[in-house]
Amino acid sequence: MACIFVNANRSVGTINPNIYGQFSEHLGRCIYQGIYVGQASDIPNTNGMRNDVVSALKALHVPVLRWPGGCFADTYHWRDGIGPKENRKTIVNTNWGGVTEDNSFGTHEFMELCRQIGCEAYFSGNVGSGTVQEFSDWVEYCNMGGISPMASERRANGQDEPFNVKYWGIGNEAWGCGGSMRAEYYADLCRQYSTYLRNYSPEHKIFKIASGANVADYHWTKTVMERAGQAVDAVSLHYYTVPHEDWQHKGSATDFTDEEYYTTLHKTLQMEELVENHTRIIKQYQGDRKVGLAVDEWGTWYDVEPDTNPGFLYQQNTMRDALVAAINLNIFNNHCDTVCMANIAQMVNVLQAMILTEGSKMVLTPTYHVFEMYKGHQGAKQLESYAETTLLNHDDQAVPDLHVSASQQADGSILVTAANLNDTAAIPVTCMLGGAKPTGVTARVLAGAPAAHNTFAAPEQVVPAELNTSLTADGFTATLPPCSVAAFVVNQ
Ligand code: AHR
Repeated sequence: MACIFVNANRSVGTINPNIYGQFSEHLGRCIYQGIYVGQASDIPNTNGMRNDVVSALKALHVPVLRWPGGCFADTYHWRDGIGPKENRKTIVNTNWGGVTEDNSFGTHEFMELCRQIGCEAYFSGNVGSGTVQEFSDWVEYCNMGGISPMASERRANGQDEPFNVKYWGIGNEAWGCGGSMRAEYYADLCRQYSTYLRNYSPEHKIFKIASGANVADYHWTKTVMERAGQAVDAVSLHYYTVPHEDWQHKGSATDFTDEEYYTTLHKTLQMEELVENHTRIIKQYQGDRKVGLAVDEWGTWYDVEPDTNPGFLYQQNTMRDALVAAINLNIFNNHCDTVCMANIAQMVNVLQAMILTEGSKMVLTPTYHVFEMYKGHQGAKQLESYAETTLLNHDDQAVPDLHVSASQQADGSILVTAANLNDTAAIPVTCMLGGAKPTGVTARVLAGAPAAHNTFAAPEQVVPAELNTSLTADGFTATLPPCSVAAFVVNQ
């Protein structure tokens, strides 16, 4: 019997709902086909957005959505995507497969998508190949309520009221596809761009996010914070879980060994030290302001599915991915005093997606179900939690068998989310809730073999099920099946 301890008397703060954010890039079949099919499509849609996909996303309570990239963002010129569609420029998506991009999905379409999903927009602006004026004009176009050249243009394109876009990323991966810059050079650019990204209304202040480090590049965070920390509200971090270092052979999404399973989880657990180390640097240089950490790209990255375009990054999604999602979300919850946002890559048909589509068909992935089971953490008070774990040793890569986080909702109920990383053994757990008076408990679990996944032919192989759980005087007991993610709701 393993013990989980939750201390209802201690919290590091409120879990920012934006930790449950998503990312949608003009990449492969994420935007086109996956989300946007156009009004003339046979696939049921509202203003061009797939009804099935939007309705599934609404159920997740997606708080914020990042767009249009990724690497695409630093080649994107927003004026190409506004105005009558027949006049929009056709370009080549040079980062992702060299495919034609007709710009039929632009600023207004993205805002319509956010409206339908009910989420905030997070725009990633072009610093790599754009200009300060272009970026500044985009903010004015979106947010100016009065009379100005950009506001008039927006009105002429059918949008009277300002969009009031809050989140603005100042470039993406400036150290790589966003301009191959040195941290020192980017920091200066970031200050310059930030100067011209204006607030157009005191009630709708914008939130600026600096392009942050890749993995453990602490020099990047230090330099950006030291030189531009006063010009931004958050600094980003990108960390992908890639089973093999060789990017030509990252590993299959569905056909993997036991060793690869544990390597994947071991690498995912490194997120914690990355968050802690980058945060330490941010705090050192933030001065009197509070600068957050926005992990605005994370998730698994495998070889693409056989016979698919290598530039489209289309991969399947298994119970292994469900565990990766659970571990990352537990880590973000437990560091919610500094992690102000996180955006899994990506929402539909790309990398660790929530949803896969094929023509008019749609399938929800195990990762989708984890986000759904965890959604109660959004906006809740994080509670200190600790799991008494056994280390599973595989090829010198030890991983704990249990991984947990907990939070308390406004109505007093407590959500405990726990993952059993052991792929062969069930774990009986007893959870003790210090400082709480439990009166009832319900639980759901997502479980299966590590490679279990949903397909278009069999879409319900991996779905949440009820989990037997018993109330005790100070908590509950349950048995977590091997390779599973469970969510317990305790009333008091
Ligand atoms: O998510 C896919 C790509 O990964 C993004 O475009 C880029 O920012 C990162 O390297």
